[in-house]
Amino acid sequence: MKHVHVGNTKFAVRLAGEKGYPLLLVHGFPLDHTIWQPQIDFFVDHCRVMAPDLRGFGASDVTPGVVTMEQMADDLHGLLAALDVHEKVIFCGLSMGGYIGWQFWKKYKHKVLAMIACDTRAVADTPEGAAARRQMAANVLSAGPGAAAKVMMPKMFAPATYQNNPKLVQHVQQMMERQKPAGIVAAAEGLAAREDVREMLPTIDVPTLVVVGEHDTLSTMDEMRQIADAIPDAAWVAVPEAGHLALLENPAVVNEAIAEFITL
Ligand code: MLT
Repeated sequence: MKHVHVGNTKFAVRLAGEKGYPLLLVHGFPLDHTIWQPQIDFFVDHCRVMAPDLRGFGASDVTPGVVTMEQMADDLHGLLAALDVHEKVIFCGLSMGGYIGWQFWKKYKHKVLAMIACDTRAVADTPEGAAARRQMAANVLSAGPGAAAKVMMPKMFAPATYQNNPKLVQHVQQMMERQKPAGIVAAAEGLAAREDVREMLPTIDVPTLVVVGEHDTLSTMDEMRQIADAIPDAAWVAVPEAGHLALLENPAVVNEAIAEFITL
């Protein structure tokens, strides 16, 4: 792991690979960069992979207050500068990482070569969804990160994964449980406050790959199909035997789709 400062905030970032396109892997909530291990292993020989821990997660600093999706996009922009990455990158975001990707596109499109949107959404939280998220944040403050895992874990995988791959399920549960409460709360507030970006999608004029697990209940096939339809140059892949964490449940299909998309 490399540690770099953006302003006063310290970020941890996993760097792997020395040649090819810069590939920025942006994790979901409440996770850290290790969610991308199958992609880091696969793309290390083809790309310059950067997998940061976002503000408040993994080994990156936690800062007080609400952390918006825009703040996270600013962080990533600062991180690229701190890493001396001056060319355009392939921005690959999972779920919350995708929400951050939309904001990154809005502010920093000159830095984007291509977009990969994995199991993510373009709509905002409903008022009920935002309220439930804030309740979860309150529970995390009083009871610890397990309160977030309790809410999130049932939404992560396809039914077959829960049944057949308890080790993977446990791996993700542990990842959630080791996140810092203050980091989870700050991001949960940011998630609850995020905007609907559907009207912005047609402005995405770089090649885009939309990836969704066929059994994803959080960012559904229907919703992701609409995202792909709204982006002028979007390719689409539905991943069998996978839910929200398709990149972990069926990494062979996801890696192959990404490799084909970026023509390795
Ligand atoms: C994620 O995987 O980042 C979260 O499921 C996003 C969300 O809860 O909206």
